Amino acid sequence: MNTGLAELREKARAVLDPVHYDYYAGGVGDEVVLGENEAAFRRLALLPRVLRGRATRDLTVDLPGGRLRLPVLVAPTAFHRLAHPEGEVATARAAAAAGTVLVSGVASTVAIGDVVAAARSVDATASVWFQLYPQPDEAVTACLVERAERAGCTALVVTVDSPVFGRHRRDAEHGFHDLPAGLATENMRDLPGGVRDIVMSPEVSWDHLDRLRETTSLPLWLKGVLHPRDAVLAVEHGVAGVVVSNHGGRQSDLAPAAVEALPAVVDAVAGRVPVVLDGGVRGGGDVAVALALGAAAVGVGRPVLWGLAADGAAGVGRVLDLLRDEFDHVLALCGGRDPADLTRDLVVTRGRGV
Ligand code: FNR
Repeated sequence: MNTGLAELREKARAVLDPVHYDYYAGGVGDEVVLGENEAAFRRLALLPRVLRGRATRDLTVDLPGGRLRLPVLVAPTAFHRLAHPEGEVATARAAAAAGTVLVSGVASTVAIGDVVAAARSVDATASVWFQLYPQPDEAVTACLVERAERAGCTALVVTVDSPVFGRHRRDAEHGFHDLPAGLATENMRDLPGGVRDIVMSPEVSWDHLDRLRETTSLPLWLKGVLHPRDAVLAVEHGVAGVVVSNHGGRQSDLAPAAVEALPAVVDAVAGRVPVVLDGGVRGGGDVAVALALGAAAVGVGRPVLWGLAADGAAGVGRVLDLLRDEFDHVLALCGGRDPADLTRDLVVTRGRGV
């Protein structure tokens, strides 16, 4: 792990209520996938290319829904006000200042309109995407989509890896079920049928996705895809992009490490839509490896929460700066000028030779 990120994590551990630290840090089951997401990156190496005569580097990436000044976006995570009083407002300001996208979760503790306003107060062109779980009551889904559109979000991210809640042992041991008094999931107010809670439902299907897509003109990303066949179906159902993710090891503890699932999804998609990876990215080298394996960008979840807890917007800004700086350095060491120079032939599995 990048040493700066490790320091921020330790600072976060020191300031957070241990129950909330464990909510952020923990995973499902025996936390096998949680560990594997990071370990799998350490099993991969990058072959440097030499004498390529490239003096400058450009880290910009264009994705459906926004331009990123670095190929790292902020993955959707719930309840930022557990980490810092400003919550998602601070995260949004930092992401906008870094020139990247915040994917704001439906389970945010600040309403989406206020999140987008915070980002745009820093940069009038900032892109915020809205993450949601397709709800079995489609009137609720449609209402959430409409709120995101009205707020000015530039893409939707539909998370599909959660037909049921993952069982988090640390939360069960602490008895952590509800937000403390004074905090709420602000997007879940005044919904059709008086719905207040996000419902995970195994009955949600591709038909729901098709109908959701018809309700909006925003680019729609599908998050939580690991099987190549699902990636192909996603393209056939008209998504704008696919996020390879095992939810940071918080859903199935039998899932493969995210980076290990990436190449097959990239091959299946075959360039028709961009692929983003999240899970276990803890340094600029991990960003470079993911891009070399075909990701257009990566998402980071927990490191952003560490930065937020440690130092609010400044801490999130530090996380993004560290990742940008280290990625830029690794790209230079590989003789690259821009992310497209990172190609799969550079990736080697340690211990197996070239
Ligand atoms: C998440 N993640 C997540 N994903 C999502 O689609 N909706 C959500 O509400 C949440 N909530 C959430 C809470 C917390 C505390 C964590 C740590 C994660 C998953 C997230 O978007 C992303 O997939 C992972 O966090 C990526 O892994 P790393 O970067 O945390 O290793």
